[in-house]
Amino acid sequence: MHATHIGIDQISFYTANFYLDLAILAKRNQIDIGKYHFGIGQEKMSVAPHDEDVVTLGANAALPIIEKTGKENITGLFFATETGIDQSKSAGVYVHRLLNLNSNCRVVELKQACYSATAALHMACALVARNPNDKILVIAADIARYDLNSAAEPTQGCGAVAMLISQNPRILSIDPQVGNYTEDVMDFWRPNYRKTALVDGKFSTDMYLKAVCHAWQNYQNISPLQWQDFQHFCYHLPFSRMGVKAHRHLCAYNQQNLSEAQLERQLNAGLLYNRVIGNSYTAALYISLVSLLDNHPDDLTGRNIGLCSYGSGCVAEFFRAVVMPDYRQQLFTQSHQKMLAAREALDYDQYLAMWHYPDPQTGEAVENPLANQARFRLAGIDGHQRRYQG
Ligand code: HMG
Repeated sequence: MHATHIGIDQISFYTANFYLDLAILAKRNQIDIGKYHFGIGQEKMSVAPHDEDVVTLGANAALPIIEKTGKENITGLFFATETGIDQSKSAGVYVHRLLNLNSNCRVVELKQACYSATAALHMACALVARNPNDKILVIAADIARYDLNSAAEPTQGCGAVAMLISQNPRILSIDPQVGNYTEDVMDFWRPNYRKTALVDGKFSTDMYLKAVCHAWQNYQNISPLQWQDFQHFCYHLPFSRMGVKAHRHLCAYNQQNLSEAQLERQLNAGLLYNRVIGNSYTAALYISLVSLLDNHPDDLTGRNIGLCSYGSGCVAEFFRAVVMPDYRQQLFTQSHQKMLAAREALDYDQYLAMWHYPDPQTGEAVENPLANQARFRLAGIDGHQRRYQG
């Protein structure tokens, strides 16, 4: 460990207030529910109502951090998303206003499929290394949407995570050493004119495994740490079973036999939130990290977590986080679990109505038919300008 730590001082996540139980989708699509529950490892997927977008998801994720720590010394807001709401203006600038952050704060949006939150995290750590009194807010927010009746439909979802990056972090120290892999492939993409992603499903899972393995190989060249030095692992989770597959793949590559008990100890607590949220693209890896910290029965102080990021197209990265003493006192565990339990179940017709609801256009107010209780919501668009409430 370094003398001076830089990393995650606070971490909070948020998802929409509505979900579809995948048992309903399985019945409707005449699929054996075992395929969803065990084959892809998903039970529910969060569904974003039309007054929720990446701005509201991100602001709702970050609010508890700002309420707890204040906005002092926050000199940057990096917003990672692939569900952008404007080709020019960063979603982060709207969040900056909703959270009433300081005007001397640099704001930018980053994109590379599900990977960009990892770039944002390391850029934030690098800036704190340069100016140790600075704090940077990293927000990752996305809404994963695929075509109805497609194989990808049950892997939809949405969510956001907010992380405050600082010196002497109270939750996780982040190492500067990373292993990278980039290759230009078309496994998943969304052209500007499409609302849903295009995906070559089988190829995307193969690319994911290939890319994370190359990222780990690259990590081995720059770090003295071995596979056995890590006690826990978090992966990008398009669906929770993908994390299990990736972990088995990397264990096999490192010639480690993985028993069920080891799988439970090393991985499973990190899968719990994703199972009931679905894919949240850029946020998914970091929601898995929160899930591990919130749900693992052990005190994880001093343990090494291997973080494995993947974004289609594709970029992968492997790096280490070390858990700080007393981290549990900093977590929002109870409010995370309360939020998930308070979500409202949709029936199939309500899900379909939300899925088909057209993107709001200028001059339109955005309805709130299901009484979305989110603190921040999109209220309408006037003169081509988005109007937020909260
Ligand atoms: P599919 O092709 O319909 O599923 O969709 P399948 O037939 O391969 O079945 C899935 C698994 O369920 C298989 O197990 C089956 O055996 C099993 P596996 O061979 O994988 O071990 N199964 C059952 N198990 C128990 N009981 C049953 C049963 N029936 C079957 N009755 C696919 C799967 C992932 C392709 C689809 O959901 C998809 O296209 N999803 C979207 C793409 C995706 O998530 N790709 C993941 C890697 S790419 C990535 O992570 C990046 C991404 O997040 C985007 C970004 O970076 O921005 C997507």
